[in-house]
Amino acid sequence: MSLVIFSKVHKVQPWIDALKDLAPDIDVITYDKIQDKNKVLFALAWNHPKGIFKEYSNLRCISSMGAGVDHIMSDPDIPEQVRIARIVDPLLSQDLAEFALALIMNHMRGLTNYRLLQNQKTWKKHYYKRISDVSVGILGTGAIGDHVAKFLLATGFSVTGWGKNPGNQKEYKRFHGTDQLDEFLRTPDILICLLPLTPETHGILNKGNLSKLPQGAFLINLGRGPHVVDQDLIEMIDNGHLAGASLDVFDHEPLPEEHPFWSHPAIHITPHVASLTTPGSVAPQIIDNYRRAIKDEELLNVVDRKKGY
Ligand code: GLV
Repeated sequence: MSLVIFSKVHKVQPWIDALKDLAPDIDVITYDKIQDKNKVLFALAWNHPKGIFKEYSNLRCISSMGAGVDHIMSDPDIPEQVRIARIVDPLLSQDLAEFALALIMNHMRGLTNYRLLQNQKTWKKHYYKRISDVSVGILGTGAIGDHVAKFLLATGFSVTGWGKNPGNQKEYKRFHGTDQLDEFLRTPDILICLLPLTPETHGILNKGNLSKLPQGAFLINLGRGPHVVDQDLIEMIDNGHLAGASLDVFDHEPLPEEHPFWSHPAIHITPHVASLTTPGSVAPQIIDNYRRAIKDEELLNVVDRKKGY
């Protein structure tokens, strides 16, 4: 029985090494080395070619190589009985929180702008807000969003959150459900999207919702590209309602060369680097899930296929 890695974007050797170090008894291979598809019981996947899993008759579990599972859920041909799991890793949440803080501070202190001024040898000061004067809204208060919210709260920001369902967070005000979305959007100076991508959240950062943010608000998208309606975001920045955006995720990655985001002066782009999975940190939960899958036991961090996350 094999554990097979399906990814063209990761350097797979560190993954193989981390998994083999922990479980030398398990046959870990990459998908191009498969000899007998019937022996594949567990897949570790990132952006696999759609439709391929139909051919794996004994597959029991597909685990994402990251926190998101939208790249798996968007494949309509995954057999009903195959369970899907995601990575839940405190390192990933902390990396996202630190990255969010870096982007917020870059925006608040105008560091990118100073770099541009440096190119022109221009000495020009700008005033700035302090952390204690800034409110941050976390769109998506699941395990990751909640961690980011608490981290920013501890840093001194005022923080609110919005999630689909009521939660029991007490440390910050948390809105929930579509009914409370408008109210949530009314206050944050900085909105950070950390939602999972589902049919319900697709396009949520559209003109209608972005226009509910206060004048001069700033958007940080660390969720998925399709949360944002690209043209609407550009329009809301160009008409002066939003101050700008930092985007780490895009509809198509790599972001196509001709995309207007590249050259927009108020849009800051990073290449989906907010949190990169560390194989050594997540190998134990993958091995654990592999052993559970063999024994047909309940899996860790299993995804509700109906909800999509
Ligand atoms: C990154 O985007 C992840 O899903 O881990």
